[in-house]
Amino acid sequence: MRVAALVLAAGRGERLRRSLPTPSAEASPPKAFLAVGGRSLLAHSLAALQAAPALEGVMPVVPPGWLGRWAGAAGVEPEAPGLLPAVEGGALRQDSVAAGLAALPPTVEHVAIHDAARPLVHPEAVSRVLTAALVHGAAFLAEPVADTIHRADADGNLAETPDRSDLWAAQTPQAFRVDWLREALEKARADGVTGTDDAGLVARCGHPVRVVPGDPANRKITLASDLRWAEIHLAERGS
Ligand code: CTP
Ligand code: MG
Repeated sequence: MRVAALVLAAGRGERLRRSLPTPSAEASPPKAFLAVGGRSLLAHSLAALQAAPALEGVMPVVPPGWLGRWAGAAGVEPEAPGLLPAVEGGALRQDSVAAGLAALPPTVEHVAIHDAARPLVHPEAVSRVLTAALVHGAAFLAEPVADTIHRADADGNLAETPDRSDLWAAQTPQAFRVDWLREALEKARADGVTGTDDAGLVARCGHPVRVVPGDPANRKITLASDLRWAEIHLAERGS
């Protein structure tokens, strides 16, 4: 196996829980196990990646303590062809990536990292970013930024307005040479850096990282309003 993916599902979904009309802290499962269109976010994400022909194996990274129950809770057949055994993630997203990376078969040369929280990614977009990573070593899906972004100073005043035409909002999957991603995680740990995505950590090592235009439907489910949006989008798409 040379090309594999990690699907990160080990986060708790605190922002979503807080945005629910009646937050029930104990009762709700981790975000990846919530359903849209009758299927969990994790099941949607795994299916989208399994449908990308270049990916030979897809590994779920599940919350600590969920190894025995993740598949039932997500409505996934854990023995399905193309699915690798799940691993437990860690406290930070970066720890979950490291746990998945450590569990990959040693033959894997390129890995795609996908957030289970982006259930509507198209298999074609997965293939696009993988192709770019196979050629260039590192790539991520991204959308041009629609809003004007200002940087503020410590006093709360506008300090700088970057040219919007250069700005991209990062999505997943992000795909890398495994040796570059390992180096990036080790350097981040040594430097005490916590990144919000992996592309930024790989770029910190001086490696080129290709921007691959994504898809506005590949939105991350962060708040309850995103879940409602996904429900409507799926109904309109008819799947
Ligand atoms: N994730 C993970 N391990 C963590 C934190 C996050 O695998 N320790 C995963 C999430 O499950 C999600 C993806 O990384 O699929 C993106 O993270 P985010 O959208 O921030 O999800 P959560 O961390 O679950 O949500 P929140 O930050 O609101 O708690
Ligand atoms: Mg988070």
